[in-house]
Amino acid sequence: MKKGNNKIILAVETSCDDTCASILKSKNNNLKVLSNIISSQIEIHKKWGGVYPALAKREHQRNLVLVLEQALNKAKLLKIIESPVSPVDRKKLEKILEKEPELLKNLLKFLKKYKKPDVDIMAVTIGPGLDPCLWVGVNFAKALSYYWGIPIVPVNHIEAHILANFLEPKSKRIKFPAIVLIVSGGHTQLILMKNFGKYEILGETRDDAAGECFDKIARILGLGYPGGPAIAAESTKAKKEFKISLPRPMIYFKNYDFSFSGLKTAVLYDFKKRSPKIKKSETYIQEMCAESQQAVIDVLIHKTLKAIKDYKVKTLILGGGVAANQELRKQFQKKIKKEKLSINFNPPNPRFCTDNAVMIGIAGYYNIKKTKPWENIITEPNLRIH
Ligand code: KG4
Ligand code: ZN
Repeated sequence: MKKGNNKIILAVETSCDDTCASILKSKNNNLKVLSNIISSQIEIHKKWGGVYPALAKREHQRNLVLVLEQALNKAKLLKIIESPVSPVDRKKLEKILEKEPELLKNLLKFLKKYKKPDVDIMAVTIGPGLDPCLWVGVNFAKALSYYWGIPIVPVNHIEAHILANFLEPKSKRIKFPAIVLIVSGGHTQLILMKNFGKYEILGETRDDAAGECFDKIARILGLGYPGGPAIAAESTKAKKEFKISLPRPMIYFKNYDFSFSGLKTAVLYDFKKRSPKIKKSETYIQEMCAESQQAVIDVLIHKTLKAIKDYKVKTLILGGGVAANQELRKQFQKKIKKEKLSINFNPPNPRFCTDNAVMIGIAGYYNIKKTKPWENIITEPNLRIH
């Protein structure tokens, strides 16, 4: 273990359909990304129009060792020194990965081939997420932790989406309290962040998450998976020919909760009543995309601004895949300016909004005191932030 704050972190993320590994280096309180590898399963899940957990688990098993190898290689931490895995270690690894036989086979080959890398800590997502997927990443981290003798920090995926905002030097300007809007495929939450590790959920979706809503609408319109980026791309070409008008669910409710399943149903009804020719026309699809995207944006901005004013916060933080949406970011900027709100708003780089292991590494760094012996780490698919 290096002295003081200087550490090398290996992060692993498998909570949904991306197999991710990343290496970060902390030096004098600055974090540097040495590698960020993402193996996306989009092509596999496309035909189902969403993530199929058993398939996602299988792909994580297949890809994890490869992704780890690439992450270490890119960070220049990979050294070929062949040495056999002892029968005792092999037995232990077989036990840890008893439910992931394919992963075990790949890992044993990897461990025989390479020397222990210069890594001080591991960070792994334990939840929230799809339980079969979480277990693959967690068991993988446990196997490495046992074999290399490196401690593990269990990471909350939602906190990681938030802490993705704290990578760049300008994040030093982030002042608390802050309002956080988490918008992903599984979550839509408004959170009051009082400090690192101090969170209060103010409101959340009562049914579908914003990203899930985009994914379902895209499926109705035949745009494939993931829906958000496809809807964003179609929206840019829209003309107002059909004058489609969709609801803004719960926008004027006095709480901070959301509901997006009615929006998807409204799209379905409109789609069903159109003639086959219109349904397939580019102009209709583009306009439907623009109106659904705007409906989601209107609700998100309205509720978030209400929370910013009610709690008199100093910063607005965005996180999650939908936070990569350019129109959402632009309209937030515009509205903040129009309402002359003096808050700090620097949305993170879009590549750190969608799932990645860099954010898991950042969360590991901020929670470095929460390392646990590998034997005690379990998944928490319904983990909540608090
Ligand atoms: O955070 P994320 O990668 O995974 C979860 O933790 O759920 O978010 C994935 C979600 C998907 O629903 C996807 O459609 C949406 O984020 N998404 C977007 C964009 N990029 C990804 N939604 C709107 N605009 C985007 N550019
Ligand atoms: Zn996520």
